[in-house]
Amino acid sequence: MRVVVFGAGATGQLFGVAFLRGGHEVLLVARSEEVEAIRGHGLRIEGPSAGVYPVPAVDALIDGITPDLLLATVKTFDLREAGAEIGRRLRPIPPVLLPQNGIGVERLLEEGVHASAPSAPPPTIVRAVHTIPVTRLGPGSLREAGRGEIVIGIPKEPVAKRASDQFEELFRSGGIAVRRVPDIEREVWRKLLVNAAINPVTADHNILNGKLSEEPWRGQAESLHREALAVSRAEGQTFSEPEAETDLWRVVRATAANRSSMLQDLRRGRPTEIDAISGELLRRGKLHGLELPATSRALERIERRARERLARPS
Ligand code: PAF
Repeated sequence: MRVVVFGAGATGQLFGVAFLRGGHEVLLVARSEEVEAIRGHGLRIEGPSAGVYPVPAVDALIDGITPDLLLATVKTFDLREAGAEIGRRLRPIPPVLLPQNGIGVERLLEEGVHASAPSAPPPTIVRAVHTIPVTRLGPGSLREAGRGEIVIGIPKEPVAKRASDQFEELFRSGGIAVRRVPDIEREVWRKLLVNAAINPVTADHNILNGKLSEEPWRGQAESLHREALAVSRAEGQTFSEPEAETDLWRVVRATAANRSSMLQDLRRGRPTEIDAISGELLRRGKLHGLELPATSRALERIERRARERLARPS
């Protein structure tokens, strides 16, 4: 299959290499510094998929290419713009896999596509979430800090269902563990509960995920997790406390050597996903009359850290 990975940061680059190894034709669309490095020395990976891989990479979507599948691996805050770019450049628009953290991301992509291509049919979107720990070491260089899995939704609508089958095949052929579920919304919430606890604490204290099993970070992660769980229940999700706790500590253990994506973003002076995670929980919590003091403090602290980071001369 011909596959485009649009917005190929560390995770997208790792996916691209997996698909290449699975025998597919892959094109990464990434930032210029990544493209230059990948073209110069190949994509360097440490960890289970260690090697140097010559993956084709460009810094903008090329007009008129016709991939069979597209993965949009941009961060949530860039999804609307990604949709607009996809709408501008690609006809037909291929099925799009969205593996972002956070809830309600499909709408952002749809709005972007509609803004630039109002007469195009709405894109076929397949939602997914993943727990694959990847740390960017530098341009075109990353470390896979363990093995995770990708969970892909099985939509009811036949065209989207077929696209979901193809994405499953794509990941499997590349040796990435895949699970498919009819209720992806539940998995998106499951992941949100994990991100709500792990990401702000690790980013605020500049610690690896594994440190969360030690105090005082453990207590902070648990408070955030409890509040996120309360919102999930108010929203109709039915995670029991033991189930949600088991999920959290399983991901902490599996990604112990990883820097969370929020910590990586802060360190690079890039925007973080705090609004799509804690901000969204606060907005939804408010609608249900829930007080979320730990979440609200976490949001303030990460926003402050991001401002300090931006104000610091480089
Ligand atoms: O955002 C992240 O960093 C990841 O979702 C996870 C699973 C928490 C691993 O670091």
